[in-house]
Amino acid sequence: MKYQRSSALFDEAYKYIPGGVNSPVRAFKSVGGVPVFMKSAKGAYMTDADDNEYIDYINSWGPAILGHTHPEVLEALKKQAEKGFSFGTPTELETEIAKLIVENVPNIDQIRMVSSGTEACMSAIRLARGFTKRDKFIKFEGCYHGHSDSFLIKAGSGMATFGNPSSPGVTAGTAKDTLLAKYNDIGQVEDLFRHNQGEIAAVIIEPVAGNMGCVLPENNFLQKLRKLCDENGALLIFDEVMTGFRLAFGGAQEVFGVKADLVTFGKVIGGGLPVGAFAGRNEIMDHLAPKGAVYQAGTLSGNPLAMRAGLTTLQLIKSDENFYKNINKTAETLDFEIGKILNSKNIEHRINRKGSMMSVFFHVNAVSNFEEAANANHALFNNFFHQLLKNGIYLPPSGYETWFISNAIKEKEIDRTLEVIQQFEYS
Ligand SMILES: Cc1ncc(COP(=O)(O)O)c(C=O)c1O
Repeated sequence: MKYQRSSALFDEAYKYIPGGVNSPVRAFKSVGGVPVFMKSAKGAYMTDADDNEYIDYINSWGPAILGHTHPEVLEALKKQAEKGFSFGTPTELETEIAKLIVENVPNIDQIRMVSSGTEACMSAIRLARGFTKRDKFIKFEGCYHGHSDSFLIKAGSGMATFGNPSSPGVTAGTAKDTLLAKYNDIGQVEDLFRHNQGEIAAVIIEPVAGNMGCVLPENNFLQKLRKLCDENGALLIFDEVMTGFRLAFGGAQEVFGVKADLVTFGKVIGGGLPVGAFAGRNEIMDHLAPKGAVYQAGTLSGNPLAMRAGLTTLQLIKSDENFYKNINKTAETLDFEIGKILNSKNIEHRINRKGSMMSVFFHVNAVSNFEEAANANHALFNNFFHQLLKNGIYLPPSGYETWFISNAIKEKEIDRTLEVIQQFEYS
């Protein structure tokens, strides 16, 4: 494959955009090489600036669960655009999507729309603090909840990729209220509650972590967190920016049968347009302005184009009773067959998967927290990534990220992916 145009575009972008990209992981810093500039995408495929085609396993980092440019979402967006792009007033559409979500996601009565997952998580923490009148919260190493200051402490995603999990610019004053524990280590959470009695507003967690690669909760970890939060008067926040509408329509709460007090959303909820949201029971959500005193706002919150893309996406998922069965089956097949191929090549690896989220770690042992994810052979992942890329398979450009399977990936794409992996040369 040739990347001449991508290379030229990157040089040009580098002059005007910090690092040439608008979100760090896109720069390929972890895997090396020149980032591929895409110009279009349809179904399971993306096409780059040099006209190379790729089967897409990032799907915009999750939102494109139906595949790219789904014809019904496209049609709905065109019709919506003709009515106006943004009003800054309430619209009926906002209630329509809110009602669909509230009626189908467990344990929530109200939902507030924002424009990104970062805003959703940042606002959920503020609301938890306002509700409990406490300042501190617990997060887990390797979990990423967006780039607001209080989360940028041992965070995953791009932060992990660059080996700099805590960002300069976050003040000591902010950092002191973020308490850290190891994912899947309930003893550390117990200790934190013991040493900070009456001070912890919330525990926030990715119920299936996707930002240190895919890492699953083990030994009823989520259930145990629920119990600890109840015993200590803290709120349990599920960051379902990745898992929401992906693991099931009701998200991780439905899949694991654990009740969260606040839930944050992003990605699928916007169907590819910039949307985030946070939701909870009336007694908590009533504390938000304008009803309550906890302030939160947004010029483009509930934007009609974004709401239309999200609503149509959610309706399409809901109307297909086999949606999750099918997409999970695709992921299961990939998981099983990739495992078989890597075994046949004697390549030590672990595949972590929940539903249509998965990661291949080149590691001899199980990966259940950030430290273990960091100990995987990332040099080998980078080699794997580039060999696949050259052959038209687009994986996330970092061993700390999750593959997102879309419903547009069918037998043909699976077969081609496996054929390419079969040719993978371990060096
Ligand atoms: C679990 C999780 N929470 C929050 C965010 C932040 O979302 P956004 O990038 O839309 O601000 C992300 C982004 O990947 C995420 O994966």
